[in-house]
Amino acid sequence: MRVSMIGAGYVGLTTGVCLAEMGHEVICADIDRDRIAHLNAGSTPFMENGLAEMMSRNVAAGRLAFTDNLPEAVANREIIMIAVGTPKGAAGEADLSFVREAARRIAPHMSPKTVVTLKSTVVVGTAREVREIIAEERGALDFWVTSNPEFLREGSAIHDFLHPDRIVIGADDRDAADRLIELYKPLLRRDVPLVETGTENAELIKYAANAFLALKIGFINDVADLCESIEGDIQAVARGIGLDKRIGPSFLAPGPGYGGSCFPKDTEAFVATGRAHYAPQPLIEAVIDRNAKRRRRIAERILDELQTARRPTVTVLGVAFKADTDDVRESPALYIIPYLQEKGVTVRAFDPWAAANGAKLLPDVEWYNDPYEAAEGAHLTAILTEWNMFRTLDLKLMAERMRKRVLFDCRNILDPETVIEHGFRHLSIGRATLPRDGFARRATEAAPARNLLATSAKRS
Ligand code: UDX
Repeated sequence: MRVSMIGAGYVGLTTGVCLAEMGHEVICADIDRDRIAHLNAGSTPFMENGLAEMMSRNVAAGRLAFTDNLPEAVANREIIMIAVGTPKGAAGEADLSFVREAARRIAPHMSPKTVVTLKSTVVVGTAREVREIIAEERGALDFWVTSNPEFLREGSAIHDFLHPDRIVIGADDRDAADRLIELYKPLLRRDVPLVETGTENAELIKYAANAFLALKIGFINDVADLCESIEGDIQAVARGIGLDKRIGPSFLAPGPGYGGSCFPKDTEAFVATGRAHYAPQPLIEAVIDRNAKRRRRIAERILDELQTARRPTVTVLGVAFKADTDDVRESPALYIIPYLQEKGVTVRAFDPWAAANGAKLLPDVEWYNDPYEAAEGAHLTAILTEWNMFRTLDLKLMAERMRKRVLFDCRNILDPETVIEHGFRHLSIGRATLPRDGFARRATEAAPARNLLATSAKRS
């Protein structure tokens, strides 16, 4: 099929590349000329596993092209996907101005019987609005507007596209739905579930899915706080909960709070949509509030550890909002680091991919190319991103480099016993803090026994 992608940002580009990989003829259009020039020169504007290779393969095969010429991109296409940004507006609502603008700009050049599909995350009713915008320009034209939300995770977007849990097609017309079904045929043939519904439902599915996932994270983080108070172990509790098929094991990893370009923005937009339609969403409002407080709590725990340090220095390992991305948007690090700096803490940092993006937003941080250099003279090292390379940190070397051996594993990726064996004081999320003096108490054994006693004492 001949597909046009409006917007070569994260969603547009990865989706366009994957559709080309599936055999479609795709042209990606963007108003950013520099971006298009870079893409035409073969370089991707962000890091995403496997994207660069897949992109060059499909360009070479003649199935994928990039242009800043919108009329050329739009004419004679069976499907036009709109994948432009929907940033957060002043009152938390999604700012749809780029979507409206894209609709206005494609309208004059659309061929008859085109299916316009909204890939951008948009509020309920946007497909209908886009239909009206195009109809205003091209009243006599026969066309459809549909909704086809994406559920791609940064870092595994290509895998997620090619192996989706489901495909959601929102269309108010049979022919339009069939056109999208045709587009996804290679995936649907592999028994990927299809949710066919109206455009409004499809639009809501995207927001509700992200809100629910944020809720799961918020919940497990609150349970982690409780575990800290009772000296329990959140890892055991999360596993015990997640094995219940009704709950499921994913999105139960506690940490410094969710970030990224989607959850913070989409949860706020979901709440704003609820308000606009007189159906408030207090659960998600609470999740948003808890997530903001979470970062402060992590920063406060770090400050508590630095009380006796004269010129306190902290090493931050990982500023990306999660592993396998160079994206720092809404990353917990962007809140935790300035909070520490305001209290007079010197921050040294390392991130394997995201240092360049981090440095733009955190200019007062000292950046290093190596975690061990970053650890030099530090009173505490905090792991904020779950990069695989931190799982195999040379703790002996870290211990030698640091002034004080305190390690705060905010992603629970290190084995507590191994950490204390190297002479560290060990802090993590949802588990007891282990002192550095190499004593024998085991993180997983002694504490639950004590809890058991406490519980039975209360009962009797
Ligand atoms: C998310 C959705 O997963 C995706 O479907 C949607 O299209 C876009 O938003 P992404 O932002 O790439 O994708 O990241 P994701 O992997 O979902 O993680 C979001 C945030 O939650 C990260 O900050 C991550 O660290 C955090 N998280 C995730 C946790 O703290 N614990 C978990 O168990 C899972």
